[in-house]
Amino acid sequence: MKRPFVRIAGTGRYVPSKVLTNDDFAKTLDTSDEWIRERTGIRERRISEAHETVTYMSNEACLQALDAAGLGPKDVDAIVMGTASPDRLLPSGACDLQAELGATNAAAFDVTAACSGFLYGLIVAEGMIAAHGMKNVLVVGAERLSKIADYEDRSTSILFGDGAGVALVQPTDNGDGPGVLASYMKSDGTLGDVLYRPGGGGMHPPDAELLENRGYYLHMAGREVFKSAVRSMADACDRVLSAAGMTGDDIDLLIPHQANIRIIKATAKHAGIPMDKVVVTIDRYGNTSAASVPVALDECVRDGRITEGSLILLVAFGGGITWASALIRW
Ligand code: ACO
Repeated sequence: MKRPFVRIAGTGRYVPSKVLTNDDFAKTLDTSDEWIRERTGIRERRISEAHETVTYMSNEACLQALDAAGLGPKDVDAIVMGTASPDRLLPSGACDLQAELGATNAAAFDVTAACSGFLYGLIVAEGMIAAHGMKNVLVVGAERLSKIADYEDRSTSILFGDGAGVALVQPTDNGDGPGVLASYMKSDGTLGDVLYRPGGGGMHPPDAELLENRGYYLHMAGREVFKSAVRSMADACDRVLSAAGMTGDDIDLLIPHQANIRIIKATAKHAGIPMDKVVVTIDRYGNTSAASVPVALDECVRDGRITEGSLILLVAFGGGITWASALIRW
């Protein structure tokens, strides 16, 4: 099938208004604003209030995306949600969102690919549009990492924030027009234990020991994740650029997953894209996992950094480990 066969017709985002600064962490943990800024690039992150569930945040973002495309909830054929922190383990976050949104004609399900969840969802949407003739697919990246971060652990809790971003994906019949020019997804399950939640699933169901050992929370081998992130993001950039016969020189905007400013800079350098063409939100939002790419995408669409014809490269990696990319002509 000749690409592009899908395009993004609307975007939306939601971030909570409550801000947690680095200095706030320094009140309870042995850390400092200077350490966090220098090692990660994060200055502050947004933390959800009680009502700001994954369902709530993603519903707000979906309404914006549908509005941008001139559509309503009943037009939606499918909802694909990338999340590692759904409101509950069953049903899926996407089904809870479907009910809230009133998208009664949709099929809804989650993809579990941690920070790559939005890009995995985009690729799944391409498949559903190509194979099943779907017309409107909402691809959501939504996280409430503040609920699974261990606020007694200075090496992880300082990294994460909450938020949701959405893209409405549609078929395009104009082979030379805007759309997804190339996409790529990969994973390496042998590295699962560099970033994981030890308990709460069937292997270690919730019990008193799990709570006491803090096994419910995210655990991470930071340096190992860092190394695999640099390697996999570089691979993901190479794959789509080479599939489209392009180089970093052709790119107008790189939107990388926001995990650490040093990982972002290494990715940009590898792809040959100068930092003035790289979108950075980590200073304001921290790492919002699956939400980070679609939140940044929506910001750029709405503030005019992306215009008709812009060539943008989206790239992410996450727990699993997983990695993915998409090259899009806007
Ligand atoms: N404040 C002060 N000191 C700290 C902090 C902190 N917040 N956190 C760790 N340290 C200390 C460590 O204890 C260690 O001390 P030691 O030398 O006495 O043992 C020292 O700082 C160095 O620790 P490192 O882990 O080696 O520090 P590093 O430079 O690797 O930075 C970081 C840590 C920021 C976590 C980095 O490794 C990183 O960004 N890794 C990638 C994280 C990532 O991308 N995660 C994405 C996953 S999100 C998802 O999928 C849901």
